[in-house]
Amino acid sequence: MSKIIKINKNSPEVSKIKLAAEVIKKGGLVAFPTETVYGLGADALNEKAVKKIFKVKGRPADDPIIVHVADRKELKRLAEEIPEEAEELIERFWPGPLTLVLKKTERVPKVTTGGLETVAVRMPDNAIALSLIKEAGTPIAAPSANLFGKPSPTSAKHVEHDLGGKVDLIIDGGSTRIGVESTVLDVTSSPPVLLRPGGVTLEELKEVVGEILLHPAVKGRASRVARAPGMKYRHYAPKAKLILVEGKPERVRRKIQQLLKKFKSPGVITTNEKHSYNGEVVFVGSEAKEIARNLFKVFREFDERGVDVILAESISETGLGLAVMNRLKKAAYKIIRA
Ligand code: TXA
Ligand code: MG
Repeated sequence: MSKIIKINKNSPEVSKIKLAAEVIKKGGLVAFPTETVYGLGADALNEKAVKKIFKVKGRPADDPIIVHVADRKELKRLAEEIPEEAEELIERFWPGPLTLVLKKTERVPKVTTGGLETVAVRMPDNAIALSLIKEAGTPIAAPSANLFGKPSPTSAKHVEHDLGGKVDLIIDGGSTRIGVESTVLDVTSSPPVLLRPGGVTLEELKEVVGEILLHPAVKGRASRVARAPGMKYRHYAPKAKLILVEGKPERVRRKIQQLLKKFKSPGVITTNEKHSYNGEVVFVGSEAKEIARNLFKVFREFDERGVDVILAESISETGLGLAVMNRLKKAAYKIIRA
């Protein structure tokens, strides 16, 4: 089994952080909390260590990994140029759930970037993550700490379930605050391109840089759109087949009622406490923020209950709703309009 240590996320115990940092320095793997989801970390500049990440997750080698930094000086050593727009975004959103894709320097191994000439960088807003990076003295490459294709982990328990025994250390820093991953924005071109909606909303980004282009994968289904780096694979999926029902709330409710009769052990994800359905029903929250925080946990709970189908209500694609709908669409086996 992997070693698990509890660390206080408000004031991380120095001795425990040192222990975890030693593992990173020696080329090992440490799963740690961020404000979005748990990450599976290794020294971003150590090729051998980064290769282990791909192996342990079962992740294709061409899917690039986000590099986590604790200060801006480190960013300058990873990125060849930092456009004015990126500087403004960093000023406003770091530390926080915004990942910027920039032209990489020689220093960043191609293994880390999946062979690309760009590198994705972010500064997480979590004291454990920040002190771990500082103490390790190196940027930390970390994808979400789940098995490839599975929902991202929002607690140490989820990490243990997927990767227990395969990593050197798991840091338990409690449940993550945001629940969906960071926003990924490509700032190598102008206007910037939103590659993945996440914790920082499109509306917030626009307040800072005005125009932003949306990659087709943001609103579309993964399988139906041309690939962008790292977007060709189905993600976040629970074991059960997820059917996403879009449309006006009342029509969606009726459609789900109808569909429920077709399956033996269905589950329902609802965003309205008043909607009552037959079967295993989980209320994920009424507001996007709450839904984002609970979504992946609920996917995992349904897996444990062994439902064969999950019927999910859609939500509006505004604010954090854009990230929530993106994850639902990517996990979906089928999307139906009510
Ligand atoms: O919130 C998060 O971002 C979490 C925590 C641990 O920081 N990490 C995370 O990593 O979600 P991962 O590997 O599950 O997702 C990284 C995404 C992928 O879609 C990948 O393709 C994209 O970022 N990405 C990474 N480097 C890129 C690059 N150079 N160009 C374009 N996309 C990139
Ligand atoms: Mg992931």
